[in-house]
Amino acid sequence: MTFGGRRTIAGAIVGTAIVFLVSLVSVAGVRAEAPAKAGQAGPAQGVQMSETLFRNVQVLKGIPADEFMDAMGMFAASLGFDCVACHSEDIKSDRAAFAIETPLIRRARQMIVMMNGINEANFGGRQMVTCFTCHHAQNAPESIPDLALQYGIVTDDPNSMRIAADTRFTADQIFDKYLQALGGAQRLASLTSYTARGTYEGFNTSGNEAALEIVAKAPNQRAEIVRTLEGTNVKTYDGGGAWASEHWRPAPLMALTGGNLEGVRVDAMTSFPAGIRQGFSRWQVGSTTIDDRRVQVLQGTNAGQTPVNFYFDASGLLVRVVRWTKTLIGTVPTQMDYSDYRDVAGVKMPFKTVVTWTNGQNTMVLTGVQPNVAIDAARFARPAPFQNR
Ligand code: HEC
Ligand code: HEC
Repeated sequence: MTFGGRRTIAGAIVGTAIVFLVSLVSVAGVRAEAPAKAGQAGPAQGVQMSETLFRNVQVLKGIPADEFMDAMGMFAASLGFDCVACHSEDIKSDRAAFAIETPLIRRARQMIVMMNGINEANFGGRQMVTCFTCHHAQNAPESIPDLALQYGIVTDDPNSMRIAADTRFTADQIFDKYLQALGGAQRLASLTSYTARGTYEGFNTSGNEAALEIVAKAPNQRAEIVRTLEGTNVKTYDGGGAWASEHWRPAPLMALTGGNLEGVRVDAMTSFPAGIRQGFSRWQVGSTTIDDRRVQVLQGTNAGQTPVNFYFDASGLLVRVVRWTKTLIGTVPTQMDYSDYRDVAGVKMPFKTVVTWTNGQNTMVLTGVQPNVAIDAARFARPAPFQNR
């Protein structure tokens, strides 16, 4: 059976890369951004809804297009599938082919209805059972217990949203140690902006190195620019809204919403770490292990949002952030790993960041950082739609 085969994660990522690199022309040409109608209540300016941007959406309607793509990530991660496992092979050359109905797409639609039914009937409609609950990265869920699992060593997942409480430390102690390890509050306060250059590679560059530029301004503005053969890809956050003008997205300009918007807010926050503590209304302290190293976890929560986990190593530095994006069919994680801390104007900055999420993995490596430079506000504003070079 060609469709049902279990794919490795590496396979999934390679497959995803093929898909996202298909030229935007086909989708963008047919359905460009749906303009928000003036004076009409509804989605914020520039937010495309799934059924407007895509052609054959029957179940996952009424959600922003970026959330819809995260739902696809949820499918892929839950079943251990790449995109082409469910979708037509034609997606490799034509993005419009995502709309082609296949037997597995019909099956997946049935599964959404089944899952919603289970949650409605048993959990008051809360999203307790998801695709992952049954599938666990397999297309055919196992229903017979695994003795090796029963008698094996249980390791806790450091990325879990449920953290093991650690009462030996307070959040303030961990923050104080972190800010100290970075160079101290005074030096941090004197770093108010920077521009950085480096390299970016991952699924959306087919593993090739592309030129990276990051511009950031305290307390909370940030933009990431990646120059690929296709053109200039820009992601901005102006402290309120966030946009992506990137060739691997399903539209030439997308407003980021929900957990994706929260994600860029967290990225901006970690660029000027003194503001992290105030960025959340509630903190919980825990500890866990990453790659055999004990780490302390601070989980920040704001009302009505998924939490964000911050992980600190023995030296007090931030080594990981895990955050979540809610979708109509379940919640997907994003993991940021920070390493290679170096000195910039007396402040330690991670020169390497690896981003891992359900649709792929990217590595950003900085080669130079210019502290305290004047940055035009327009660089953080809503960018122009992506244009193929
Ligand atoms: C488990 C099967 C499955 C996997 C894996 C999957 N999809 Fe889908 N996809 C669907 C279903 C089902 C729909 C239709 C949703 C609906 O009707 O609401 C869909 C619809 C789409 C659409 C909208 C097409 C249109 O124009 O109507 C796009 C784009 C898309 N998927 C992209 C992706 C990408 C990119 C990936 C890989 C990251 C992916 N999908 C992985 C099942 C899947
Ligand atoms: C309550 C458990 C459960 C949940 C929840 C669940 N599934 Fe399934 N799923 C199954 C079982 C059982 C099968 C049948 C596997 C087989 O035929 O061997 C299956 C089969 C499938 C198949 C066919 C796979 C193949 O290779 O033939 C797809 C696609 C699928 N599920 C997608 C999903 C998606 C997408 C979700 C979330 C919206 C989901 N499932 C949620 C239990 C579940």
